[in-house]
Amino acid sequence: MELCRISGQSAFKSGHLPRNSATRMTGSPEVKSPNRIFIAGMGFVGKALAIDLKKQGWGVSGTCTSITKKKKLEEEMGFDMYLFDAYEPDVATIDVMKFHTHAVVSIPPIPGVGDPMLQHEQLLKKALLGGNLQWLCYLSSTSVYGDCGGAWVDEDYPTNPTREVGKLRLAAEKGWLHLGQSLGLSTKVFRLGGIYGPGRSAVDTIIKQETLSKTQRMRGDKQFTSRIHVEDICQAIKASICASSSKREIYNIVDDDPAPREAVFEYARYLVDKKWPGWIKHSSKQRESTATVMKDGLLGEKRVCNAHLKNELGVRLLHPSYRSGLQSIIDQMDKPFAT
Ligand SMILES: NC(=O)c1ccc[n+]([C@@H]2O[C@H](COP(=O)([O-])OP(=O)(O)OC[C@H]3O[C@@H](n4cnc5c(N)ncnc54)[C@H](OP(=O)(O)O)[C@@H]3O)[C@@H](O)[C@H]2O)c1
Repeated sequence: MELCRISGQSAFKSGHLPRNSATRMTGSPEVKSPNRIFIAGMGFVGKALAIDLKKQGWGVSGTCTSITKKKKLEEEMGFDMYLFDAYEPDVATIDVMKFHTHAVVSIPPIPGVGDPMLQHEQLLKKALLGGNLQWLCYLSSTSVYGDCGGAWVDEDYPTNPTREVGKLRLAAEKGWLHLGQSLGLSTKVFRLGGIYGPGRSAVDTIIKQETLSKTQRMRGDKQFTSRIHVEDICQAIKASICASSSKREIYNIVDDDPAPREAVFEYARYLVDKKWPGWIKHSSKQRESTATVMKDGLLGEKRVCNAHLKNELGVRLLHPSYRSGLQSIIDQMDKPFAT
């Protein structure tokens, strides 16, 4: 998906220049790209988005928690990286956000802390007031809906999280919406389903013969789990940037096919067996672990509706079902057992 331009001229105001901007490199007051994104939390989604936007000529900055990762992302990817750790926050990082036209917040709420950046809300507000930021997107989760008895839920369905993580997520959504609105920014909340993509999928779990985490095994008990391929999250973010006049603030970002975890693993096993016949028998231990589900009812049942994502943002999903998503992941895999 080609990305629209915000405007024909530089979006930067004088004095608001990022560390690695063209000004630094050339001494000219012109900034090469008018678009510059700040990604708070350069994790799985953040990195995929950063790579995608950089290819389209955007300036990209982001945060991570370790010096090693910071160095790697700077040297190998050419991103402008900053350290930000909720437990030892370098608040100077917050000030850097004002040098960007767009921002995505991808850091999850931390139990006992809440949203790490919103802990410094007044500082954020002061830093962003009068800066270059125009558009802000907070990456949330469908966990905010809680248990809906298997009903289809759109963005207007009442939120009712029962677990701490869902409650903190809802508080973070409200906090970022409030902050963005008070600064006059186009502010969006994206409620993401279970994220998968190359390197993080049922196919990868089978191939790496990993055992499932407690949360993953709990999800195995669910009739419906909504998912989204990382490429479709990037598509949705780009569509939202282009449709900055859209009035809706909250979007569900999920595919068309809420399905039980076991069905996804069954399909992943089928794909692995088809591509590398005979290898699958080695992963029988992992198969048992997938089947061992927990019935403590902590994870809520719901089918999350993506109509607004399609109709208002105009996104045509690359992977409407886990089937095409997993197929594309295995198609890109080359000799995964070599190491
Ligand atoms: N995984 C899912 O299925 C799922 C579903 C719905 C919503 N979400 C949410 O969607 C967002 C993007 O997901 P993702 O899979 O890309 O997440 P991810 O890979 O776990 O990345 C999270 C990012 O937050 C940073 N971070 C974590 N703890 C932090 C702390 N204490 N202080 C500062 N930064 C911290 C991480 O830093 P480092 O880079 O240094 O590790 C990383 O850059 C996250 O908020 C996630 O919780 C995830």
